[in-house]
Amino acid sequence: MCAPPSQAVPSLLRVSNAEYQQMASDLLSADFAAENFKSWTPLAQVEGFDGLSAARFDSRALTEQLSTIETLAAQLVTEARLKTMCPATQPTPAPCAVKATYNAQSDFSAAQGQNCWSYSSSDGKALTYDAATMRYGDASQGLFVWANGQHPGNGDAVRKWTSPLRGNVVVTGSFKDTDPGGGDGIKVAVRLKGKDLWSRPIPNRSSETFEVRTFVRPGDTLELVVNRNAESSYDSTAVEAAIAVAATPVTAGWTWDNCGQAFVNRYASRMFRRPLRAEELAQYQTLFASFEQGAEQADLPSPFIEALRGVMEAALASPNVVMKPELIAEGFTADEKQFAVASKLSLFLRSSFPDEALWALAAQGQLSDDTAIEAQVRRLIDEDTSRLALNFGGQWLGFRRAALSAEKSPLDASYYGESGRVFESLFRDDAPAWRLLKPGFTYVDAPLAMQYKLTAPPTGTPWHKVDTDARGGFLNQGLFLAADADGSEFRRVIHRGLWVLTRVLCRSLPRLDAATRDEINASVGKIDRTLPLSEQMRFHRQASSRCPACHQEMDPLGLALEKYDAQGNRRETTPDGKPIVNDFAFNGVPVENPEQLIQMLVDSPEVSACMTDRLLTYAFNRKPSTEEMCLVSTLAAKDSQGRAPSMKEVAVRAFLQSLKQTGVSP
Ligand code: HEC
Repeated sequence: MCAPPSQAVPSLLRVSNAEYQQMASDLLSADFAAENFKSWTPLAQVEGFDGLSAARFDSRALTEQLSTIETLAAQLVTEARLKTMCPATQPTPAPCAVKATYNAQSDFSAAQGQNCWSYSSSDGKALTYDAATMRYGDASQGLFVWANGQHPGNGDAVRKWTSPLRGNVVVTGSFKDTDPGGGDGIKVAVRLKGKDLWSRPIPNRSSETFEVRTFVRPGDTLELVVNRNAESSYDSTAVEAAIAVAATPVTAGWTWDNCGQAFVNRYASRMFRRPLRAEELAQYQTLFASFEQGAEQADLPSPFIEALRGVMEAALASPNVVMKPELIAEGFTADEKQFAVASKLSLFLRSSFPDEALWALAAQGQLSDDTAIEAQVRRLIDEDTSRLALNFGGQWLGFRRAALSAEKSPLDASYYGESGRVFESLFRDDAPAWRLLKPGFTYVDAPLAMQYKLTAPPTGTPWHKVDTDARGGFLNQGLFLAADADGSEFRRVIHRGLWVLTRVLCRSLPRLDAATRDEINASVGKIDRTLPLSEQMRFHRQASSRCPACHQEMDPLGLALEKYDAQGNRRETTPDGKPIVNDFAFNGVPVENPEQLIQMLVDSPEVSACMTDRLLTYAFNRKPSTEEMCLVSTLAAKDSQGRAPSMKEVAVRAFLQSLKQTGVSP
């Protein structure tokens, strides 16, 4: 082995936005919208490998996180999801019919308690039914209740509904003094458990309507009461009333023990990327009990759901979710080591927590040796390459930005789509890194087909693969070529050159200091803009002895690509008709046109080494140390037949090596 494990103290990394979004989506088994992160951590949206850009925070990020957590918890704790985990609830036998609406008139019957209605005087004495007059009454008091009316006597006439359920109800209806004989009117009320929710005096021959909203528990009573007022004559009252019940939650009978605990255990552990510890579960149980009690007192329809959502919010707000303790040696306990391996592997390949199969292996202690781990690396790569392509390739070559930032041109979505598909396809099919420059095919949607003058996909197929040598390579894709469409020609050439130099060849430049910047600004105005572009650039390189250090590497690479205009269209001449040729060689190698430049890169071992360096960085969650740089040549080495290793093979080896180098091992 060429490099000893690193002794450096690793820093605690943060889960990136992309990883958080992926974990949330996996948790829900549904897409958790990117919208939820738009204003979350602008700093973490800086391009770079997840682990490297991840340790950034700002104060807004912390506030925004809470609202994202609330949204996620609310989407997670739904009746539908609970039903798949919780015991089927046995409806407790209700004392009377459970219905969506109760109607005083049509529910009226000869039996006390039928449809939850009963009839009494205000002293609580039940009235008796008289079949001949079809009404309940107490002749001694002179009070009666019938289907659509009530008549008070010395006591009040009371029509009472006893709730068989828990939930919100709306009570609507009217009282009307109907007796034409005279008298002093009546007093009416709607009461919950004997307390007025609404009451009115009603003069002779007048009426009042009511609409009352309230919360009821099983056994609570709602009473419609008619009082005779001071004198008892002429008080026949027409009464209409309906009680509408809001859909009651199905959670009755669900408890922490029979359901809540399993739910929290399942979902919080995935976000922690390890099983919950006994003391954590005990804390959540205590929290659950207090939330449930609070929701009960606040008359919320389902205290169980409220409490569970509160607990999930607390779990999601835990530092165990947003930090990655598993990546440092003592971050997980000795018992949890295999979960640390499973998590590191999942973050590398899935940008998320372990899938079911990997979780089960870690739980059974079957991730203890290299062979078992390698089998899982290969299984996960083969099952789905798209996440690695987007999160590794997309950061390395810049095609992941689409998900995170606003698009600049109408073709941007197509450009990102093309780059991602080409990368994923090459990676999946065991291609070596140089094929990224010369794949021999590309993917186009309809707008791109028009832009590139290639066959459009058949209707109904958004994207299709087209065999061509003219497009598809990273240096002849729109994403790269049109990236600096808005700048000057200078800027375009320099930025294209800079990109090839730093992204494809992994070369680094010295930092631009303030003195050089001043010299640049001073020189720009002096350049004769009528000269051919290559002459102008030669002029600026000669502005000072400092300039060539960087520009003699960037400029020839950029100038070689001038046969693509700012929009990435192929051209042979400049707008004023001059032929485009580049006589500025790169380190002595001629790169007269795009084809020569690409061939130079294809033949260069630096491209494979660069990809390997990037994969090691992605797997290690840090830049390889100087002692570890020997791993790049080991992993990128050609085989005995002179073939470069495939990107997939390098990914597998880089990951296995990362376990040794970072001390995260079972
Ligand atoms: C340390 C490396 C380095 C040195 C030295 C250097 N440059 Fe640059 N230069 C760059 C990089 C990198 C860019 C592109 C990034 C940017 O625009 O900041 C650039 C961009 C430019 C641009 C394009 C500005 C634009 O965006 O339109 C000009 C012109 C330029 N350099 C001229 C010069 C001149 C003249 C000198 C010498 C006085 C010089 N540079 C020295 C690295 C260097």
